[in-house]
Amino acid sequence: MREKKQILIADDEANLRRVLGAQLQRDGYDVLMAEDGEQALATLAENHVDVVISDLRMPKLDGMQLLKRITASQPELPVIIITAHGTVDTAVEALKLGAFDYVTKPFDRTEFKNVVDKASRTAELRQREGEMAERGLIGQSPAMLSIYSVIEKVADTPSTVLITGESGTGKELIARALHEKSSRHDKPFIRVNCAAIPRDLIESELFGYEKGAFTGAVTSKPGRFELADGGTLFLDEIGEIPVNMQVKLLRAIQEQEFERVGGIKTIEVDVRLIAATNRDLAQEIKEQRFREDLYYRLNVVQMRLPPLRERQGDIPLLVEHFVKRFRERLKKSRVVGVGDAAMEVLLAHPWPGNIRELENVIERAMLFCDGERIDVGDLPPDLRVTPPSSPGSHAAVASARRAEIDEDDDEDLGEEPTASGEIGLKELVREAAAKVERELIVRALQQTGGNVTHTARLLKISRKSLQTKMKELGLREARED
Ligand SMILES: Nc1ncnc2c1ncn2[C@@H]1O[C@H](COP(=O)(O)OP(=O)(O)OP(=O)(O)O)[C@@H](O)[C@H]1O
Ligand SMILES: [Mg+2]
Repeated sequence: MREKKQILIADDEANLRRVLGAQLQRDGYDVLMAEDGEQALATLAENHVDVVISDLRMPKLDGMQLLKRITASQPELPVIIITAHGTVDTAVEALKLGAFDYVTKPFDRTEFKNVVDKASRTAELRQREGEMAERGLIGQSPAMLSIYSVIEKVADTPSTVLITGESGTGKELIARALHEKSSRHDKPFIRVNCAAIPRDLIESELFGYEKGAFTGAVTSKPGRFELADGGTLFLDEIGEIPVNMQVKLLRAIQEQEFERVGGIKTIEVDVRLIAATNRDLAQEIKEQRFREDLYYRLNVVQMRLPPLRERQGDIPLLVEHFVKRFRERLKKSRVVGVGDAAMEVLLAHPWPGNIRELENVIERAMLFCDGERIDVGDLPPDLRVTPPSSPGSHAAVASARRAEIDEDDDEDLGEEPTASGEIGLKELVREAAAKVERELIVRALQQTGGNVTHTARLLKISRKSLQTKMKELGLREARED
């Protein structure tokens, strides 16, 4: 990774370039300069740039055109627009086109620095996210972004990582990403599923055996530790490993040496260890099923993968990702996405099986889908109705009430005309409120098994207005009461 972030300044005023450039260098950035938009594009083609700062009025290619070209070719690259005082309209226009932010001349030094620092942090996050997506790791929620930054920090260290998380949250995928991002990536990644190996075979699986060590050992065989030499050993479902094996494992990890079963020679290896479990190891320790010393040895860095219900915001991205994947695999090129109503159902489901469950649901829905978009009817029936005890339903009702209040406040704002017909705050608020409203109604409907009367009571609105709203939002009544 680069030490310093590189910033491109595009401005036709030599003096401004010089002053800004000097300031950015003092703030710890590397700086590239361009006199016009064309030069800026040429510089971008040849250099890695983290942030662009561009004036609007420039010869050849102006700032707005430059912005358009950048958002089309490198949408992850943040562009900060420089505007003269009193040209807020153009600044707003630039933001709509995808500019990261704008600064007005004359510059306030601190404000300028803040905007650039923020853009550079954003650039880093976006680059990292892009890189993770290439590895098949999808998600932009704060929880996933912080997982990415831990991967970045620990991937290329020898430290043991313990990945915890419910079933289907992506533990194996993360383990592979850690390996791929380390300098061991061209060495083996060996996975041992501790749950799948019979108890009395674990030792010989892990450490190998010598000829004649037990009946049937007609040749000698290296174990997984040896196979992983120089690379990464991934001990999946570590919580399932029998206590008597845990002592041997601890020694092998600590000393990086062991003996094969039936062997006397000590074998040394260089192995990076990653372990994963969906059990609560602290509880296992209390119940004496897991050794505390092994736990501390494994738990040098812990990565807790959030369940999908804690990062609902990632659902649309994941859905898009899986639709793309199964379009090819299932030869369903006609299907382009998921309809709004079906997406609401997906957003409201609690996903006890996490991403694996979502993946399976999308695969199944693609098979059933005859149109261009997956419809509610293509989803498995048990997804369309969630059992009444679904988590978050009380919160849903509470925020439903809040949403109603917000709507009233919205009315009190009055009709403020917005500058030159831009999309105003009011409209944005209305759109956001409608989205929240829809989500809450879907959730409440699921909670009551589609019973409109009960749903209306739950949401504290009349049955009639619920029906009107459902009609407006294109929600069908699942069942008449
Ligand atoms: N962030 C993600 N982006 C895209 N796909 C993901 C993500 N996380 C997991 N998946 C997919 O979900 C499925 C389950 O992931 P994985 O096998 O890594 O989960 P796990 O936590 O190891 O589950 P288990 O505890 O059941 O073994 C895989 O097909 C994986 O590709
Ligand atoms: Mg797994």
